[in-house]
Amino acid sequence: MNAPSKIAASFDAEKARADFEILSRTVYGKPLVYLDSGASAQKPRIVLDTMRDFAQGEYANVHRGVHFLSAAATDRYEAARRTVQTFLNAAREDEIIFTKGGTEAINLVSYSYLAPLIQPGDEIVLTVMEHHSNIVPWHFLRERAGAVLKWVDVRDDGSLDIEALDAAITNKTKLVAVTHMSNVLGTVTPLKDIIARAHAKGVPVLADGCQGAVHEKVDVQALDVDFYVVTGHKLYGPTGIGALYAKRAHLKGMRPFNGGGEMIREVMKDRITYADAPARFEAGTPPIIETVGLATALDYLSGFDRAAVAAHEHDLLTYAREQLRQFNWLRVIGDAPGKGAIISFEADGMHAHDLATILDREGVAVRAGHHCAQVLMERFNVASTSRASFALYNTRADVDALVAGLSKARGILT
Ligand code: ALA
Repeated sequence: MNAPSKIAASFDAEKARADFEILSRTVYGKPLVYLDSGASAQKPRIVLDTMRDFAQGEYANVHRGVHFLSAAATDRYEAARRTVQTFLNAAREDEIIFTKGGTEAINLVSYSYLAPLIQPGDEIVLTVMEHHSNIVPWHFLRERAGAVLKWVDVRDDGSLDIEALDAAITNKTKLVAVTHMSNVLGTVTPLKDIIARAHAKGVPVLADGCQGAVHEKVDVQALDVDFYVVTGHKLYGPTGIGALYAKRAHLKGMRPFNGGGEMIREVMKDRITYADAPARFEAGTPPIIETVGLATALDYLSGFDRAAVAAHEHDLLTYAREQLRQFNWLRVIGDAPGKGAIISFEADGMHAHDLATILDREGVAVRAGHHCAQVLMERFNVASTSRASFALYNTRADVDALVAGLSKARGILT
């Protein structure tokens, strides 16, 4: 994600870092170097404070009571929906469905939108770099309804071959489901082009924005995307809350997902009618405090010059890439042009988990494993990788700590 370097100065990572108290703690007596924001980002003070203040001063269930606190909580809940609407530039607030995360949002689309449309032999186009959350819900349709999963490969540098994706879309394709940014490779997909090509063949597109929306400003109207998915905890917000953007035209025909309170119009012994979206898809008491936390996190992130943050993260990526080049025993997987600030690597003679364990003892937190992307691991013929993922609060000093930790691990493990 390249951003103009001339505006990089307008973002001060050290200043932002001070908003995250956890980053000043130590682990094993060493300063924490948190390079696992791709798994879950830390939360700034304002998010934690706002959630506590809301719980202490304004909390009640939403949409249910006529009392003061319920009305106040409902206002906050619906204001949060408008915050997500603004964050994604959706045309309407009722196109935003709160979910418990990205996974639930994709399962919702699979169950409520796609499953009723699938006939045996119908196709769903995916890329090999999808996270399991954007694979397993489609496997359900393969197992249960005879859908065919069509896989689009990536090039050796991790970039997507848009022509291959285009060719995979046929008159049997019912959906293209593609990540906005790979959680392993950092590859940013050309969403606008993908969507234009899919729409030219009458096929809707779901974009998994769980990583992408963290690092880039998203405009669902400009993209013309049909479904866009975000999760709160990667966006500097709490766990247990995410959102699905869906075009109004799709939402109208979608069957309910979970059944329960709040998603109905009328329930009698022998009949039932359902509320319109978004309530139709938000059964039960929602994660109210978390929703307020998510809105605060989005406001926090939007308070920065997003292009300047992207430039900062790109600088960290470039710096890390340069530093890692000194290790001829280390192979970075994924070097697509314009990639986001995620580096996955494998090291000769070192198991990813062993490497991560030694880094951990140095205070450096990275993720190791298959990263919920086993299809991609198979593509690159690896069982697992170690992964450093950067956020707005990381600095070049964090990269230096990673590099020092890797040198030490090399000495211990080989
Ligand atoms: N999806 C998260 C990751 O990539 C958990 O680490």
